[in-house]
Amino acid sequence: MSEEKTVILRVDSSMRQHGSVSRELAEYVVAQLRADLPDSEIVWRDLKSGVGHVNSAWRDASLGSPATRSGEDRALLAQSDALIAEVERADIMVFAVPIYNFSIPAALKAWVDMVCRDNVDGATATFSGGRERQKQAIVIMTSNHTRAGADDEFATAFLQFILRFIGCTNVNMIDVTGLANDRADIIRAAQEKIETVCKATVSRNISAAAE
Ligand SMILES: Cc1cc2nc3c(=O)[nH]c(=O)nc-3n(C[C@H](O)[C@H](O)[C@H](O)COP(=O)(O)O)c2cc1C
Repeated sequence: MSEEKTVILRVDSSMRQHGSVSRELAEYVVAQLRADLPDSEIVWRDLKSGVGHVNSAWRDASLGSPATRSGEDRALLAQSDALIAEVERADIMVFAVPIYNFSIPAALKAWVDMVCRDNVDGATATFSGGRERQKQAIVIMTSNHTRAGADDEFATAFLQFILRFIGCTNVNMIDVTGLANDRADIIRAAQEKIETVCKATVSRNISAAAE
């Protein structure tokens, strides 16, 4: 069995810092995982202050060869390097994602662009980095009205695709959409689903570590 400890990466993308449902449920996910993986390391990436966006200089720097990059290029790519390293180390990723204008928050899309740097020319079939062990993802998706799976909901398909692209063999969506209607019931149902999903995630993680 591998001696490496499990790394849990939590990524928050709600711009609400107090009373945020997605943050509270992400906290609940992490607590559930920690209960069964007490030695795990938690890495918390909070996108509340935003993430650098791809611009012209960043694109040029990313396309250059790593061996010949100038100090300026390396500085431009430093945040991307840090975010990629967090993803590479993670065994389990927990995303707190409120729906913003029928899709994911801009900060989370910027995070994706920083992490998927290898795909900057659009020709990359798979993400290059990562541990040998499988990665898993748990996504808490909240909204007031837009329902998961509805014709006007564009977050789920993108997240499922991109999380597989960055190496998650298992992506679990926790539907917390429609909070404006049955808030208490929706949150209670989400907590129940989280408990089941976390047990299954831990079990898969332990099996993968033993391989
Ligand atoms: C910029 C912005 C855009 C939003 N767009 C939508 C939307 O398209 N559909 C919807 O139901 N709620 C929308 N909302 C509401 C959020 O989805 C809701 O407040 C959030 O999911 C609650 O999670 P939180 O408490 O973790 O922020 C939007 C909120 C913001 C700030």
